[in-house]
Amino acid sequence: MSMHDDIKSVLITEEELKECVKKLGAQITEDYKDKNLLLVSVLRGSVVFMADLMREIKTPCTIDFMAVSSYGSGTKSSGIVKIEKDLDVNLEGYDILIVEDILDSGNTLFYLKKLLLDRHPTSIKICTLLDKPERRTADITADYSGFTIPDAFAVGYGLDYDEKYRNLPFIGILDEKVYQ
Ligand code: IMP
Ligand code: MG
Repeated sequence: MSMHDDIKSVLITEEELKECVKKLGAQITEDYKDKNLLLVSVLRGSVVFMADLMREIKTPCTIDFMAVSSYGSGTKSSGIVKIEKDLDVNLEGYDILIVEDILDSGNTLFYLKKLLLDRHPTSIKICTLLDKPERRTADITADYSGFTIPDAFAVGYGLDYDEKYRNLPFIGILDEKVYQ
């Protein structure tokens, strides 16, 4: 039984991901050249994107990680966001860029941005690889976004379904048979 049998179609290829991440990195490099950039990666979905993106950022930066949960093992947001692992750094004096895999309902990032703003960083912005605007319920937009995608469940390049498929090097649409 191969992982690939559960993928209905390829949505974004490895080459397209690489090209997009390069562009985002160049834009962030330009925008943050005189700032004190701290990349905050939201575990675990953004790790692959984070690892590639940070290497395309050519201005000094530091990194930290946070873990939140909003989904359990399903495919629909519960609206409940819980902090599983907090940051280690004090945010004062930093220009924060939150690095996320996907902006879906927006509940997670709405909550997270508010929480981090309360810690008085110099600035705070959001960089998401994928954006599903059709499903947005929270009042939030990304400052940097890689791809706008339709309302389907995406996996790969860090994104999971029930903790699986994160290691696929491309982004695919999961076959409904897997979760129905
Ligand atoms: P939101 O709070 O609804 O915006 O959801 C954000 C989180 O839900 C993301 O960080 C993902 O972990 C998960 N998520 C939402 N849509 C997808 C998807 O299509 N594939 C995999 N994970 C998803
Ligand atoms: Mg997830």
